[in-house]
Amino acid sequence: MHDFKFLGNNLFCEKVPVTNLARKFGTPLYVYSFRTMVEHFRKLKDAFVHFRPLICYSLKANSNLALAKILVNQGAGLDIVSGGELFKALRIGIDPKKIVYASVGKTETEIAKAIKSDILFFNAESVSELRTINRIAGSLEKTARVAIRINPDIEPKTHKYITTGKLTNKFGLSLSDAFDIFLDRDNFSNLSINGVHMHIGSQIIESSPFIGAIRRIVAFIERLNKVGIVIEYLNIGGGLGIIYNRENPQTAAEFAKNISPLLRKTKLKIILEPGRFIVGNAGILVTKVIYVKKSHAKTFAIVDAGMNDLIRPSLYGAFHNIVSLQRKIGPQKTLDIVGPICESADFFAKNRKMPPIEEGDLLAIMGTGAYGFSMASNYNSRLRPAEVLVKGAHYYLIRERESLTDLVRLEHIPNFLN
Ligand code: LLP
Repeated sequence: MHDFKFLGNNLFCEKVPVTNLARKFGTPLYVYSFRTMVEHFRKLKDAFVHFRPLICYSLKANSNLALAKILVNQGAGLDIVSGGELFKALRIGIDPKKIVYASVGKTETEIAKAIKSDILFFNAESVSELRTINRIAGSLEKTARVAIRINPDIEPKTHKYITTGKLTNKFGLSLSDAFDIFLDRDNFSNLSINGVHMHIGSQIIESSPFIGAIRRIVAFIERLNKVGIVIEYLNIGGGLGIIYNRENPQTAAEFAKNISPLLRKTKLKIILEPGRFIVGNAGILVTKVIYVKKSHAKTFAIVDAGMNDLIRPSLYGAFHNIVSLQRKIGPQKTLDIVGPICESADFFAKNRKMPPIEEGDLLAIMGTGAYGFSMASNYNSRLRPAEVLVKGAHYYLIRERESLTDLVRLEHIPNFLN
C-alpha cells in the first residue's frame, strides 16, 4: 500500500500533484508520503499488539531527521549503527532508552558516547567488542546494557549482499560462542548482558527464514534458562520485504501470526528493527529526462538522477518501477533508463518496456524511500538531491538540495600549492 496514485493522468503524492513539487523544487527530488510511513508503522504495531514491542525504526534506511521524528512521535525507538546516527537520534529528542545500537565496528569514541547517553542497549557482535564496552563502561563508572547478536546461520533467501545471518557473514556470534559469553558473563563486571539479538538479512519475502532463526534462538534461550541465566529482551531485527515489482511478501499480520507462538514461549520483551518495511514504499525519486539517445543497439533515456542519488539498481541489480508523472498513451518501447555518470553501472532500468518517453518528461522511480537518499553520495561532484515531505495537501522541504559551496566546504588547498 502507498499514497502515490494517479488521479486522471497525473501522479499524486497524497493530495499533491508530484509535477508541482518537481517544478517548485527542481529535480532530482526525493518525495515522501507522511501517511504511507505512519500506516506501515501502525500495521506492524497492530500486528504485534499483544507483545507491546518496542519498534526501533532502523535509521540507516533513511535518516532524514523529519522522517525519523514522524516515527518517534508515533512511539518508535531507533536502531542505530554509528556515532552519526546516535547524534541524529539524540538531535530529534528521542528518549535514549529507546535506542539500540548494532554494528560490528563500534569505535571507542562511539561506545563512550552511547554509554554516556544511556541508550537501551548495545547489540554486541564480538568478544573483543564486549571487552571494549566493558572497559569503557568501567572507566566511566557505569554499567552498560548489552544484548548479544546471534548469527543463527540461516539462509534468508535474499540478495547475497544483504544476507547477514549466515556464519560466512561478518555479523553476530555463533550460538556456541554466544553461550560461552553468557556462561562467562561474571567476567564482564561492567556489563549487564540482558538480551539476545538477531538480524538475518533484508528484503526477506517469506516468514520461513525468520521462523527457522527464531526457533534456534528460542532453543538457545531455553538452554540459558536451564543453567539459571535469565534475560529480558529478544530483538528479532528487521528485514521484512516489500513489493518492488511482483513480489508477494508476507504481510505484517501474517508475519506476526507465524512467529508469535515462538515469541510467546520466551516470555521476553520483544524488539523489532524494521527499516525498509516502514519507509521503502513511502518515497519516490523524481527525475527529468534530459536526452533520448538512440544507438544502433538500444534506446537510452538519459535522466538527471544518477547512481550517486540511488545506487540500488547498480549495486544489487534491484528493480524499481518507473512511471511518467503524466500518464502517456501510446505503443510501448523497450529502453534503458540511465543517469549522467561516467559508469556503465549508472542505470535505473535495463530493457524496460515503457510508454513513449520524450525529452523533458518527468519520471518517478518508485519504492525509493529506503536506502535511496541514505546511500547517496557526491560521486562525479554531483549535488545530493532535495527531499520533500507531503502530508495531505501540504508539503515541506525537509532537506535542501546541496549547493556548490557544500561541495567544497570541507576541502583545503595547502598554501604550497598557491
Ligand atoms: N537491523 C540491523 C542490525 C540491520 O543491519 C538492518 C539493515 C536493519 C535492522 C533494517 O533492515 P530492513 O528492515 O530495512 O531490511 N542497502 C540495502 C539494505 C541493507 C540493509 C542493512 N541492514 C538495500 O538497499 O537493499
